[in-house]
Amino acid sequence: MSLQSLPKPVIGPRAQKLALCFTGGVAALILIIVSAVYTASECELQRHYDVNLVSLRPATVIGSMAEGQRLIHAFGCNGCHRANGGTVADIPNVARIVAPNLTRVVHDYSDDEFVRVVRAGVKRDGTSALVMPSREYANISDDDLATMMNYLRHTPILADKQPVDTEIRFMGRVAIAAGKVPFSAKLAPPHLAPLHRPVATPEAEGEHLVKAICSHCHEVTAEHDDGWGTIAPPLALMGQAYAPADFRKLLRTGKALGDRDLGLMSKIARDDLTHMTDTEIDAIHAYLNSVEMPDE
Ligand code: HEC
Ligand code: HEC
Repeated sequence: MSLQSLPKPVIGPRAQKLALCFTGGVAALILIIVSAVYTASECELQRHYDVNLVSLRPATVIGSMAEGQRLIHAFGCNGCHRANGGTVADIPNVARIVAPNLTRVVHDYSDDEFVRVVRAGVKRDGTSALVMPSREYANISDDDLATMMNYLRHTPILADKQPVDTEIRFMGRVAIAAGKVPFSAKLAPPHLAPLHRPVATPEAEGEHLVKAICSHCHEVTAEHDDGWGTIAPPLALMGQAYAPADFRKLLRTGKALGDRDLGLMSKIARDDLTHMTDTEIDAIHAYLNSVEMPDE
């Protein structure tokens, strides 16, 4: 039997009209939802944050170029921005998040604007950065930030690794409209970062570094779940389980006790935290060992 000879379903004019109305209604509803999602998410993305520009007052001697480059690694900028731009995430239907090439972008920013985006998450145009851990970077001292900025300003401009920008896709917009996306400018507190890194005791320097770097993923006395599937253990408990030499080995090579590989933690240790000095690593260890873990 050929297909042509199959009896055609019979739909009366009334049923046809109803079906048309129904599809039309569904299409209109989808259109309304889609435009509501676009409007709500666009509103959030274009929101302006009124954060004053504040100038750094660094020490008279700004750190060397080598020190600037080291700090950019140690503080984790390179983990996202890489040498000349990096894709932080590319999830189909959700978003592609690009951390731009800092050797180029630094020249679009005045010094004060640069400080504001790092510490307060507010970009040059007054909108919020996405993903930038400004809540933690609000703690970076004037000296360290000035040294990093000086390095970027005087290093050759590298060609962008990828010619693409951040792109928020539909499900990403749904998440934004639902308030599920952390905007850096919302999370960053009004801050009073120290002019100089506190180095009076190892514990003070260690606490400072933990706030500015490790707290992006860890809490000190509790487990931290970022809501996107990354769970990081309570840092003090971990620090106390490690002897100083093993702690250095973890941060330098990514190898945890028993030579375990820890995925993300091992990767950032190898890529970035390895640029910390022994003094910095020992200071973090000393601080973590001075923290009292709450009773269960
Ligand atoms: C977890 C990833 C991440 C880390 C770590 C990070 N950034 Fe970013 N940064 C981003 C992303 C993503 C953007 C783009 C945000 C956007 O366009 O909304 C950005 C934007 C910026 C901008 C503004 C660029 C522009 O186009 O306006 C500057 C400047 C900047 N970052 C500097 C830094 C510095 C300095 C550090 C380290 C102290 C750092 N970032 C660490 C992800 C990161
Ligand atoms: C980008 C996120 C991120 C940052 C930043 C980060 N960590 Fe982690 N860290 C993790 C995750 C995730 C784990 C859990 C890994 C696992 O158990 O698989 C972890 C685990 C650890 C552990 C446990 C090791 C073990 O034996 O299980 C220690 C210690 C640790 N981190 C120290 C640090 C210190 C110190 C810093 C700051 C200098 C830091 N981390 C910064 C994500 C991070």
